[in-house]
Amino acid sequence: MSDNLDNSIAIFFGSQTGNAEDLAMSTKKIADQSGLNAEVIDMDGFDAQNLANHKRILIITSTWGEGEMPDNAIDLWEKVCAENPPMTGVHYSVCAIGDTSYDEFCQAGIDWDNKLSELGAERTNQIQLCDVEFEPEWKQWADSVIPVMAALEIQQEAPVSDGEDTEEVVEIAVPEASKTTEKSEWSAKNPYDSTVTVNYVLNGEGSRKETRHIVFDLGDSGLEYKAGDALGVIPVTSTDLVDDVIVALGANPDEIVDTHAGQMTLHEALCNHYEIHQANRKFVASIGAKFASTDSTAIRIVKRERVLVDTGDQTVNWAWSGQDDDYPGGFMPPMSNVDPAEELWESLNADGKEMENYLWGRDYIDVLNDFGHLGFSGQDFVDQIDRLKPRLYSIASSPDFEPGTVHLTVGIVRYEGQGRSKTGLTTGYLADRVPEGTSGVRVFMSPTRSFILPEDGKKDMIMVGPGTGIAPFRAFLQQRKADEAEGRNWLFFGDWTEAGEYLYRDEISAYVEDGTIDKLDLAWSREGPEKVYVQHLMAKHAAEIWDWINNGGYFYVCGDKNYMAKDVHTTLINICAEHGGMSDDEAKEFVEQTLMREEKRYLRDVY
Ligand SMILES: Cc1cc2nc3c(=O)[nH]c(=O)nc-3n(C[C@H](O)[C@H](O)[C@H](O)COP(=O)(O)OP(=O)(O)OC[C@H]3O[C@@H](n4cnc5c(N)ncnc54)[C@H](O)[C@@H]3O)c2cc1C
Ligand SMILES: Cc1cc2nc3c(=O)[nH]c(=O)nc-3n(C[C@H](O)[C@H](O)[C@H](O)COP(=O)(O)O)c2cc1C
Repeated sequence: MSDNLDNSIAIFFGSQTGNAEDLAMSTKKIADQSGLNAEVIDMDGFDAQNLANHKRILIITSTWGEGEMPDNAIDLWEKVCAENPPMTGVHYSVCAIGDTSYDEFCQAGIDWDNKLSELGAERTNQIQLCDVEFEPEWKQWADSVIPVMAALEIQQEAPVSDGEDTEEVVEIAVPEASKTTEKSEWSAKNPYDSTVTVNYVLNGEGSRKETRHIVFDLGDSGLEYKAGDALGVIPVTSTDLVDDVIVALGANPDEIVDTHAGQMTLHEALCNHYEIHQANRKFVASIGAKFASTDSTAIRIVKRERVLVDTGDQTVNWAWSGQDDDYPGGFMPPMSNVDPAEELWESLNADGKEMENYLWGRDYIDVLNDFGHLGFSGQDFVDQIDRLKPRLYSIASSPDFEPGTVHLTVGIVRYEGQGRSKTGLTTGYLADRVPEGTSGVRVFMSPTRSFILPEDGKKDMIMVGPGTGIAPFRAFLQQRKADEAEGRNWLFFGDWTEAGEYLYRDEISAYVEDGTIDKLDLAWSREGPEKVYVQHLMAKHAAEIWDWINNGGYFYVCGDKNYMAKDVHTTLINICAEHGGMSDDEAKEFVEQTLMREEKRYLRDVY
């Protein structure tokens, strides 16, 4: 690039739990390799008026809530919408990551894509929409957009002034305090070290589930939250697992590795910065390079002669014709010397489904059992595995009711995989390594803008939250009680059995007694001959649910996204059709457009 050409590119990320941020970092690597000078920019705190200073812009963003911006992007987005800064001369492209199981798939990315175009920026490449397995789609986008961006000839901006009319630049000392924003200083990047003061199992005796009530002390953190928000927890991997993985690698725990968080020992990296309890596709795919680099020697027989010792007569005189299947008579081909690991890898690499099945329930001990002999350095390893991600938990308390603390309702993930007992990373951490009194448990707030109580306390609320879905409704009920809200509260709860999984039974019973809960419906799926789920009870009370909704009531759902929330959604549409006198299409439109989007009276916190 000539001296007066600008080779800079700005890669903005909007990210809540780090996926889009990771992709921004990986995009920077590709951009730098193409001769661009890439800068990764957190949208948080970026001034909308400075956007157009960048002539090449890439936006990589996730979507949260119900089609909303991730938290770090909200301010910038709102300012761009309010100020509409002109973006002529800017070239851009957007990569949106999301999850097709949400109705508003990749909406935040779509909004950015439309907005930048509307403001006059030029789209170099179509927006890329990526589903949960976002790597391949992102890679396709990055590989196509970077060459296009690199090929743009952009002149460097002329120096601001070269005449006599010079301005004196005076550096103004900004007092420290005025630099701070209203936002809490604690974040996913700078989590607060809290103390867990309560940690016990909520399930009844004999239950095969383990659901814990866990209380975090907020101390003097100044952390604030509202009912409906979530708490982010940053887990620490079990040192036993870390030690075992390092042995399986044959690596030195003190080896210094380069990571996204700087240089550190391999041991520290695996404890606090990477996910080693679940193998990923990227690592397994990368193993192919090991086979390609392993020298292999093919041997074949090309000549066979046999001469009798006594007489010197030649009885066999065979020479290879050059044909693949040409062997001397009576020749037995030797056993294949192909490494079985190579055969396994090829079968996984050839078939996505087989790879998915292989990865399910396997950690890196399992994978290294199959492939560890190929030799991986600590650095090889961390370069391919996933970065550690925080996990979110719906807060189960109201700050007015439980001041200075945050309560969670956590379903512990335990399973058997390859003959060993395994746990989810964070739930295993919280259940097994964070007894009451443990300090230094890293947390941050993840506020919601959508899953909130009605502003008007007189409004009725229907809450459907089986299993751990009860968590935010415990917070809502506490808050409604603290506010002395006059609106009625109807709770649908359920799980396997009343004896084993009736979480917060005493509290719920007390709320029924004192009138905080006006109506309670409990669905037990393993109690009698027939499975009863919350949606069955909704259908049973269809007329009354319609009555509440028709009179301005709010409808909330929390918990399992894949099954429960979908069935509840369908049941709600059926209820509106049947009792609201609408056709099926009208009821769908009413629920998904009017209730959900326009009036925001149907709110979901599903995961
Ligand atoms: C906004 C939000 C709110 C949430 N609120 C809550 C809440 O209130 N309470 C709550 O408990 N959770 C909640 N979650 C879920 C929570 O964030 C975690 O996803 C969950 O606790 C699991 O985390 P983990 O780190 O323990 O498991 P991970 O390490 O993430 O492992 C989970 C994975 O383990 C694997 N796995 C699970 N079972 C098996 C098996 N039998 N065999 C093989 N593999 C298996 C699956 O791949 C599964 O995806 C919420 C999530 C979101 C996004
Ligand atoms: C509570 C929650 C809400 C979400 N809402 C949406 C959504 O409306 N649309 C979508 O496409 N993806 C949605 N997602 C999926 C995220 O965008 C996806 O997990 C993404 O990889 C997160 O990236 P990040 O770590 O950079 O924030 C949601 C995820 C969660 C946990």
